[in-house]
Amino acid sequence: MELVFATNNAHKLEEVRQILGSRYRILSLADIGCHEDIPETAGTFQGNALQKARFVKERYGYDCFADDTGLEVAALGGEPGVRSARYAGDHDSNANMDKLLRELEEKTDRSAQFRTVIALILNGQEVLFEGIVKGRIAAERHGNGGFGYDPLFIPDGYDETFSEMGPESKNLISHRGRAVRKLTDYLNSL
Ligand code: IMP
Repeated sequence: MELVFATNNAHKLEEVRQILGSRYRILSLADIGCHEDIPETAGTFQGNALQKARFVKERYGYDCFADDTGLEVAALGGEPGVRSARYAGDHDSNANMDKLLRELEEKTDRSAQFRTVIALILNGQEVLFEGIVKGRIAAERHGNGGFGYDPLFIPDGYDETFSEMGPESKNLISHRGRAVRKLTDYLNSL
């Protein structure tokens, strides 16, 4: 069965293809000839994920799923949240991390969580899956691996950042790993 994953991120595609196995052929946006910028203007993770999935279904006719992710920091009222990618600059991780550290300078509560929401449209039904990992924001960057805010995020129960953990360990407990496994459990149960 063919299913579109509304992304062109090679790392995410590979991760999902590995977990799903051979029953589903996962197509990327490039695979279906979609090269336009899909709007993400909803203001919530759920809304953005649904907006992307509906866009693909309505314009290209494929059953599909889409994800939206961000970092929610308690002392900042949930910021950067849906603005995680462009908190300080457009997709500039270093500037984003600098801004986060500045905003937390005076705060004692450094708790935070990553949240991923996946919206699936399949057989005329919309289903949402959520993955959360709780942790805290380190005082400074540690590690070279991963991407985004990984050098600053220490998951609960660990004393190293996502950057220091390596991809396999990170995927086992991460927001995205958890949401993807819920999606795959659902698909494999059909
Ligand atoms: P996206 O929706 O997966 O593109 O994620 C939006 C933004 O959230 C990214 O640009 C990163 O700044 C941040 N982000 C998402 N997932 C992760 C992660 O696993 N580690 C660190 N930062 C992440």
